[in-house]
Amino acid sequence: MNYDQIAELEKQKLVPTYERMPFLAVRGEGCYLYDDQGNKYLDFLGGLGVNALGHAHPEILEALRDPSEDLLHVSNLIYHRFQAPLAEKLAALTGLDRAFFANTGTESVEGAMKLARAHGRRQSPGRVEILALENSFHGRTLGALSATWPEKYRKPFEPLIPGVKFIRQNDIAHLNDSFSPRVAALLVEVIQGEGGVVEMDEKFLKAGQQLCRTNGALLICDEIQSGLGRTGNYFAYQRFGLEPDMVLVAKALAGGLPLAAIVAREKVAQAFHPGMHGTTFGGGPLQCRLALKFLEILERPEFMKHVREVGAYFRNQLLKLQEELPVIQQVRGQGLMLAAELAAPGKEAVRQGLRAGVLFNCTQERVLRFLPPLIIEREHVDQVIAALRPILVSVSNMQNKGVHA
Ligand SMILES: Cc1ncc(COP(=O)(O)O)c(C=O)c1O
Repeated sequence: MNYDQIAELEKQKLVPTYERMPFLAVRGEGCYLYDDQGNKYLDFLGGLGVNALGHAHPEILEALRDPSEDLLHVSNLIYHRFQAPLAEKLAALTGLDRAFFANTGTESVEGAMKLARAHGRRQSPGRVEILALENSFHGRTLGALSATWPEKYRKPFEPLIPGVKFIRQNDIAHLNDSFSPRVAALLVEVIQGEGGVVEMDEKFLKAGQQLCRTNGALLICDEIQSGLGRTGNYFAYQRFGLEPDMVLVAKALAGGLPLAAIVAREKVAQAFHPGMHGTTFGGGPLQCRLALKFLEILERPEFMKHVREVGAYFRNQLLKLQEELPVIQQVRGQGLMLAAELAAPGKEAVRQGLRAGVLFNCTQERVLRFLPPLIIEREHVDQVIAALRPILVSVSNMQNKGVHA
């Protein structure tokens, strides 16, 4: 079936939750995606942050096709060889102790909220509240959604779970006033991804950690988008030397397959006992095996150095473009989690990007967000910047003429 046929069939048969880009992806290689018409796209969307090693990375494919490994699924009632070593590796990377494996980011948030409540209840029956931040995004299941800020996501599904309170970003006084012995956890994205790549202040984060400690609450860092090398550190919180009690990872973890994890401190993890939480698929042998391969690549000494260098180059090129084009209001982010906030709607820029063979997306209406593969080189950055220049001139002209995309 070609693009038109697939698009038509989807229109009739899929629950209408997504607005897709108008092309049919058939193949990916490195930083490029190809459609059924032979068009090539430089992929700075990166499967929404999943394709950290790009498409069809040879070592991931080799691990996937290893003829000596044919165990796909056994369930969590049976041991397999890959879950424990992966838990050990994640514990070493975070400085924490134990892992629980889920499938998606939202599930790990959901599990972390349950674990925080179970841990809180051990201290006192009323310790059940979760503090989350305004502008946050933690996922779409009802628990994670309750801790997700934008009303457009939450409103249609109310009533959500009670006991979640939102704190203004970087407002230490508000944070301070919101702490009480009822607080089980503070849940934060160190860099808010869906919220438009918004960085939290070091002072605010450190105050949050301190308040958690003095009040007996847990600090949970949602590193689902910002973790696993994306910002030039294994985790974004490490830049500030934070020591969270739980770290949540997903997206890139299994090199493109669904896998997520809650990594927790020993005393926190002990609040779950057999039967309290679980999943059929989470931590399956294939996913864990690929995750071990992914982390092996991530840990190579030159890898993170590369992310930092090419990330700094990309950021600088965006800043230079901002000097030329005032339609860019702000450049934000760390490593290869970057954004350019525009004074014009971003959707049109995404559309024009597609026509120019460059993929990225737009959050918060006016924020162009870039989550490219961590293996990009300077020439890929140059290609994106060269494509962006005329696009931004065009959207800026449209904005000035009052043309609405
Ligand atoms: C910070 C953060 N938390 C949670 C989620 C939800 O993850 P998933 O879509 O895998 O459920 C996302 C997804 O973008 C995210 O960016």
